[in-house]
Amino acid sequence: MQILKILALLYSLSGVAMGAEWCYKSQVSCDNSCKGPDEWKDVASTCGGKKQSPINIVTRKVTINHLPPFKFDGYQHAFESIITNNGHTVKLNLSGEAVISNAGLTGEYKAVEVHFHWGKNGGPGSEHTIDGEQYPMEMHIVHIKKSYSSVSEATKDPLGLAVLGMLYQESPNRNMKYDSIINALSSIKYPGNKTTVGPVSLDSLLPPHCELMKYFRYNGSLTTPNCSESVIWTVFENTTKLSKQQLSAFSDLWFDNRTAMTENFRPVQPLNGRNVFYSGSSIASVSTVLVVSISIITFLNL
Ligand SMILES: *[C@@H]1O[C@H](CO)[C@@H](O)[C@H](O)[C@H]1NC(C)=O
Ligand SMILES: *[C@@H]1O[C@H](CO)[C@@H](O)[C@H](O)[C@H]1NC(C)=O
Ligand SMILES: *[C@@H]1O[C@H](CO)[C@@H](O)[C@H](O)[C@H]1NC(C)=O
Ligand SMILES: *[C@@H]1O[C@H](CO)[C@@H](O)[C@H](O)[C@H]1NC(C)=O
Ligand SMILES: *[C@@H]1O[C@H](CO)[C@@H](O)[C@H](O)[C@H]1NC(C)=O
Ligand SMILES: *[C@@H]1O[C@H](CO)[C@@H](O)[C@H](O)[C@H]1NC(C)=O
Ligand SMILES: [Zn+2]
Repeated sequence: MQILKILALLYSLSGVAMGAEWCYKSQVSCDNSCKGPDEWKDVASTCGGKKQSPINIVTRKVTINHLPPFKFDGYQHAFESIITNNGHTVKLNLSGEAVISNAGLTGEYKAVEVHFHWGKNGGPGSEHTIDGEQYPMEMHIVHIKKSYSSVSEATKDPLGLAVLGMLYQESPNRNMKYDSIINALSSIKYPGNKTTVGPVSLDSLLPPHCELMKYFRYNGSLTTPNCSESVIWTVFENTTKLSKQQLSAFSDLWFDNRTAMTENFRPVQPLNGRNVFYSGSSIASVSTVLVVSISIITFLNL
């Protein structure tokens, strides 16, 4: 009896030790040393839930509902921050002094972390996609309700977090506002490495506020285990521009000492009947123009 108990205990411990660590698809190798996105639900059952993130936003199906603009407080404040390679991404810790409100949120949410998801040398790498298009990079500014003291506390509340998702596009020009962060990457190649960046402000990482009035909104989850379904998501329609070289610099980081940190995004998850709101009054997306022109072409029998 005692031996059986010990065996069961050893078995469960080995299960934890062997391959319980989660990883991205780009890290999964034949030796099964970590669990890729399809197996995250074995790491945390919530990852198999019905309100998961990211999603593909189908602009033809969004609900136009005139959500008001954000109120950004402290976003202009320049700060020094610790930038860390945590083995999954590169993140900057924030003091919580920058606060968002309005925009259909009930109350104030304070910014506690910024991190990124990217592709390989500037290739597709965003988590959210719009009409099936995956952008080269996505920034997440993670906010928690002002009364909470940690992300972990906020995940216990279904509306505990508000994450802002900013998509990137490639441009011919270098975006100098990103120099501080991008220059720091070469000093944090390996997990556990940290250095300081700054001064930077959250405003300097975003387009002007007038370009942040159009956004998509839905209820979802953290995009890494435990995938807690406690996030009010905002994905801005407008993008930030970086050069190919700047986007590629993120691919010089390493997940571990054997695998380059590339394609650290979770694949899109089923919508399962959730609503996606759109803050604008109409949507003039490329796909709408395309659908209209296809119908005209069909109509004219061209
Ligand atoms: C970031 O975290 C470090 C400790 O890890 C702390 O010393 C520093 O003050 C934090 N920075 C901000 C902006 O909160
Ligand atoms: C997710 O993890 C956090 C700690 O990071 C914990 O507080 C929370 O209860 C967990 N949620 C679920 C659904 O397991
Ligand atoms: C970065 O991490 C690697 C691997 O853990 C370590 O060998 C190296 O000393 C670290 N470098 C710095 C600058 O911390
Ligand atoms: C998110 O959930 C809250 C609480 O259930 C609800 O009031 C809100 O309308 C939902 N938002 C969206 C975009 O569906
Ligand atoms: C913002 O997005 C809209 C819709 O995609 C686009 O028409 C507009 O040109 C964008 N503005 C900027 C400054 O990129
Ligand atoms: C890489 O890391 C593994 C595990 O931490 C270690 O056993 C191995 O010696 C390292 N290889 C190199 C080349 O540093
Ligand atoms: Zn993220």
